[in-house]
Amino acid sequence: MERVAFTSPRTSRCSTTSRFPFPSTPTGWFVVALSSELPPGGVSPLRYFGRELVLFRAESGEPRVLHAFCPHLGAHLGYGGQVEGASIRCPFHGWCFDGQGACTAIPLATRRRPTPSIPSFPVCERNGMILIHFHSAGEAPAWEIPELPEHDSPEWTPFDMRRWKIRTHIQEMAENGFDVTHFRSLHGLHNQPEPELTFDGPHCRMRVRTVMETPFGVHDGDLAFHSLGFGFGLVRFSGLIDTLLVTAITPIDEEYVDARFFYKVKKLPDEGATRIVGQGFIDELSRQVDQDIRIWENKVYVERPVYGEQDGSIAAFRRWARQFYPGTDDAQQQQPAA
Ligand code: FES
Ligand SMILES: [Fe+2]
Repeated sequence: MERVAFTSPRTSRCSTTSRFPFPSTPTGWFVVALSSELPPGGVSPLRYFGRELVLFRAESGEPRVLHAFCPHLGAHLGYGGQVEGASIRCPFHGWCFDGQGACTAIPLATRRRPTPSIPSFPVCERNGMILIHFHSAGEAPAWEIPELPEHDSPEWTPFDMRRWKIRTHIQEMAENGFDVTHFRSLHGLHNQPEPELTFDGPHCRMRVRTVMETPFGVHDGDLAFHSLGFGFGLVRFSGLIDTLLVTAITPIDEEYVDARFFYKVKKLPDEGATRIVGQGFIDELSRQVDQDIRIWENKVYVERPVYGEQDGSIAAFRRWARQFYPGTDDAQQQQPAA
């Protein structure tokens, strides 16, 4: 299977375990692979949420994700496991497990024996991405990932993906979009957005009237952010040029996150101009991510910051963020109401 190489691993002085007062994985949907990476019958080892996992595609086409280790004698199903129908066969002694982790076959067994199931994750496949749902108590997903109208639209360019492995916590990356003053101070943008925020359960929407600097000059337009938890976010710019950025961030463990950014541009009449705009869009956002990485990988999380005058949206974000750490009193108390 073709895998996209990580870029930008950096060195850092601090351990994330001492930097953040909340668990490494909040509730939510997280991208773990691209659809194109998993053919029918495909099997792939994964490492996310501090766990070894196995991803496989049943012969009927549905992707499945289980904890990786076989309850018989501990083989990793992601290395040599084979799909048979709706199940995966362990490479060691051939026991089979379905998409919910239930044992479906034991070779040479003359009688049924109780076999513990392997823990499984809810999985969905949308917009060419495979996502799994995490909840610390194993509760069912409370929201869904939408089909995007731009996906597979002939009016838009295909997704162009960039990927980083970053030594930080997913909440720090999510908070970045709400930190309006850093767009000027760190990224050097000329305008400072004044966002309108709306919170609705796991959804957060932010609208900003802004300008976008493009290869063809500066254009006015609207920026619309839509976060569905921390793991999946949409940023649409509409104006003379329309663009879409999908942010997909997945905790790997206590130390790292896997960040995939997917870029799309609404095609212009001229193919060359579309290409130039698309590349300019990717280059500019990648430049900003690289600037953010140096901050994220070395900063600490300040639980009770001294807020500046224009930091109200950070405080609002942190209040919204508490819901994604159910049952953790420390996280519930992490932020006083602003
Ligand atoms: S370790 Fe998996 S069948 Fe034996
Ligand atoms: Fe940033």
